[in-house]
Amino acid sequence: MTRVISVFSGKGGVGKTTVAVNLGAALARMKKNVTLIDCNLTASHLGLHLGMYNPRSTLNHVLREEHSMEEALHDHFTGMKIVPASLSLKDLHGTDLTKLRHAINTIMHKNDVIMLDSAPGIGREAMASISASNEVLYVTTPHVPAVMDIVRSHEVASELGVEPLGIILNMINKDKHEMTKDEVEHLTGLPVIASIPYDKNIRKSLAMKMPLVSYNPGTDTSKAFIKLASELMGEEIIKESGLFSILKRMRFW
Ligand SMILES: Nc1ncnc2c1ncn2[C@@H]1O[C@H](COP(=O)(O)OP(=O)(O)OP(=O)(O)O)[C@@H](O)[C@H]1O
Ligand SMILES: [Mg+2]
Repeated sequence: MTRVISVFSGKGGVGKTTVAVNLGAALARMKKNVTLIDCNLTASHLGLHLGMYNPRSTLNHVLREEHSMEEALHDHFTGMKIVPASLSLKDLHGTDLTKLRHAINTIMHKNDVIMLDSAPGIGREAMASISASNEVLYVTTPHVPAVMDIVRSHEVASELGVEPLGIILNMINKDKHEMTKDEVEHLTGLPVIASIPYDKNIRKSLAMKMPLVSYNPGTDTSKAFIKLASELMGEEIIKESGLFSILKRMRFW
């Protein structure tokens, strides 16, 4: 059965899009059919993380019923399919988020996993992706305000009957003022299923417009995403040769 997973946070800027692209790339490495959808229409960064600046078809077109979801699917060299959102402010007009679930249903049969890169918070835009998903992955930094926002988001997601997969604790700096994994679990009542360090390589891979998992799969951060992907699917980690990943990138370019 296709899994529809929202990558979600209460607070903005904690790493949802970073998690979505790296987890998606790690799932594609496992030969899963995976589609990432940019559901953050007001700050649509998914395309920017993947070097897609002016896509011919976007989620905005789909929500305005101008294009089908099939038409909005874009191939990425990692093997993922991407549904970007428009960067243009005028493209927000006429986008009806209540159509999101129906649009997703039309591509269900083609996918093992559909991941929704959500808007932050508990506003209408964020709620649209929660309502359209069956499972939710929370992302937070190890700081009190961001973690408190997970508590509120989780309350709302629970009311909607969406299954929590746990928390990804991101940008850990081992600073003494940061909350520990145990403290985060205690405060939220949710398991921390991955701990991702603050890593300058993430910024480098963003500049290279590709997931770190593809740019440099050997880093500890990439390995953490690859491990998380295999745990989520309940499957063993697949090793990909360096040559194979270089060839994939060259084919894309
Ligand atoms: N583990 C990390 N180490 C270093 N930098 C990171 C890490 N995770 C994310 N970043 C950086 O933090 C910034 C915000 O990340 P990202 O865009 O993924 O957050 P977001 O939650 O999707 O934001 P928004 O709420 O605006 O959608 C980006 O510049 C990204 O490269
Ligand atoms: Mg984002």
